[in-house]
Amino acid sequence: MQSISPTVTVVAPTFNESQNLPRLVALLDKTMGDIAWEIVFVDDDSPDGTWKVAKQLSQDDPRVRCLRRVGRRGLAGACIEGALSSAAPYVAVMDADLQHDETILPAMIAKLQNDEADIVIGSRFVGDGSAEEGFSARRAFASKVATHLSSIVIGRQVSDPMSGFFALKREVFETVAPSLISSGFKILLDILASTRGQVRVAEVPYHFRSRQEGLSKFDSRAMMDFLGLLVHRLTGGAISVRFLFFMIVGAIGLALHLVVLRIGMLAGLGFEVAQSLATVIAMTSNFLINNLLTYSDMKLRGLSALGGLLKFYVVCGVGALANIGVASWLFVSNESWWIAGIAGVIVGATFNYTMSSIFVWRQ
Ligand code: GDD
Ligand code: MN
Repeated sequence: MQSISPTVTVVAPTFNESQNLPRLVALLDKTMGDIAWEIVFVDDDSPDGTWKVAKQLSQDDPRVRCLRRVGRRGLAGACIEGALSSAAPYVAVMDADLQHDETILPAMIAKLQNDEADIVIGSRFVGDGSAEEGFSARRAFASKVATHLSSIVIGRQVSDPMSGFFALKREVFETVAPSLISSGFKILLDILASTRGQVRVAEVPYHFRSRQEGLSKFDSRAMMDFLGLLVHRLTGGAISVRFLFFMIVGAIGLALHLVVLRIGMLAGLGFEVAQSLATVIAMTSNFLINNLLTYSDMKLRGLSALGGLLKFYVVCGVGALANIGVASWLFVSNESWWIAGIAGVIVGATFNYTMSSIFVWRQ
């Protein structure tokens, strides 16, 4: 087969999609016509060996490439790396599970080639587009709310900013790539937020098919990532997704602390004992939730989780001293009690976050 440099790189993130890859390649082959294309599967070391299937396909067909990532998980990050590996003028991103209708790809690419738009979105909610039959009422409602919130962040009306199916000029992507957040599910939303009004967007309707093989990976974690992304963008990047999670976990810890303290005292424990018990329980629960949520991409297990927990106690202990120190200093300098209290909490929490990121969950 003669190799010519591709006009479009199709980036397909994969996690446990081994059965779907050969079919997707065959469908693209059928639909792309004269357009020179390649596909890059970005696989996060799927336990079902998706990357092996991709590399096998790649041996038989030079238009297929595979990027196997190890030690990392994440849909957005996979899309970013796949797109960064492209040298083609256009990049398309689509799911590998056959839910996105590949037959609209030529129309999407044509809009870019004719310079009608810089980004073309495959949309479920425009014209005769539609969502999957099995889309539960709950997810449909959540999707509506999320779409409204998103339009605030991206500063324009787009019918399907949560779509995982879109194509764009590579130069546009290269420009925004350094500011994109690699944790999370909603890469298009992040691109639109990063480009704000500076790019022209077009939408092409499609019908979101039902999944035939394998399972969806959209879960509560993906939901949290989405909210984190909104806050990150709304605060102009000042608050990171991880920091936000850390603070939410801290607030839950505070509530738990007060509950344990109250119960302990009702059960007849002295204040010091109940307060100590509440502190240990709240710190332990903070560690466990942070390990599951805030640092889910570098989760500590087994012995290193135990080591991490001990370090977390030390970090929080020093953080508490910093908190008390700052608050007391402000209080004696005649600040009002609540300003002193809040400042102490902010300093302590920021200290805990910074030190935890350095010593407990290391990059
Ligand atoms: N590399 C990698 N790493 N790929 C992943 C990961 C991951 O951690 N998680 C999911 N994927 C891949 C899946 O294998 C699939 O090809 C694609 O990303 C989408 O994942 P699904 O789990 O099938 O998501 P969904 O169908 O619930 O939602 C999709 O469609 C929506 C509508 O367009 C996503 O694309 C959403 O972002 C989108 O809103
Ligand atoms: Mn899917």
